Parts: sequence; C-alpha cells; structure tokens
Amino acid sequence: MKNVFLLVSVIVPVLHAGSSAAAQANGQALFESRCGMCHGLTPAPGKMGPPLKGVVGRKLGAAAGYNYSDALKRSKTTWSTARLDAFLAAPGKAAPGTKMMVGVSAADQRAAIIAYLSSQK
Ligand code: HEC
Repeated sequence: MKNVFLLVSVIVPVLHAGSSAAAQANGQALFESRCGMCHGLTPAPGKMGPPLKGVVGRKLGAAAGYNYSDALKRSKTTWSTARLDAFLAAPGKAAPGTKMMVGVSAADQRAAIIAYLSSQK
C-alpha cells in the first residue's frame, strides 16, 4: 500500500510537468500557425502586427516602433492573461477600433497560445 502512494507521489509531478510542456509545445505550434503570419516574437520585416515577446504584463500598444491604432495606443492598462483572452476571443469587441481583425474562437486554443506567450519573456 505504501508503495502505491510512493508511486503516485513520484509519477503525478512528472505527468504534470509533461502535460504543461505539451501544452506549451501546442501553444507554440498554434502561435506559429494562427498568429505567425502577422506576428513574430521579435520585430521582423513584413509582419502586419507588433512583436509579441514579453507582451504579457506589458502596456497595451507599447512595442517600440510599431504604429498602433488609437484603440491600443491610448490605453493605459497592461495585458493580463484575462485581458488577452478577451482580446483574442473578439478583438473588435475587447478593443473597439483595433486593427487586429482575427480572433480565436476555441477557448482551449486561446489558453495554450496565452500560456506560450507568458513563457516568452
Ligand atoms: C491578419 C493579421 C493578424 C493576425 C493573424 C493576428 N494578429 Fe494580433 N495584431 C494584428 C495587428 C495589425 C495588431 C495591431 C492592432 C492595433 O494597433 O490596433 C495586432 C495586435 C495584437 C496584440 C496587441 C499587442 C500590443 O503590443 O499591445 C496582441 C496581444 C495580438 N495581436 C495577439 C495575437 C495573437 C495571439 C494572434 C494569434 C492567435 C494574433 N494576434 C493574430 C494583426 C494580426
């Protein structure tokens, strides 16, 4: 009986670490396929959107050198994960007047993308 508990206490943290690594890999793949045509992590030529490295916790509309819409530029708040989730679900609703037109309807995909962005400091 004791061994079972030992096994559980060893395996559960391993599984947990494994699943968050999987979610992160999934988030990266989703980011590249759903956002990558317009966003890089760092500034890159030909991207329509601002670079997103460090976006979680950053002020809205604050990547240096990017020409934001007034909707984001004028905001004084920062990107929390909750604010990002609302923005990605419906950009035009969360930030009326934004130039970003596409959202992600699946909540689990938004969560994976946000987890990935949170890891890119
Ligand atoms: C078709 C191009 C396009 C796609 C695809 C796109 N975006 Fe954007 N995104 C933009 C543009 C353009 C802006 C600037 C919006 C503005 O200034 O109003 C922006 C702004 C943002 C911002 C605000 C950044 C800041 O510095 O305040 C975030 C966060 C963001 N996008 C995340 C994403 C994520 C995550 C995805 C993928 C799920 C995505 N975007 C897909 C074009 C795109």
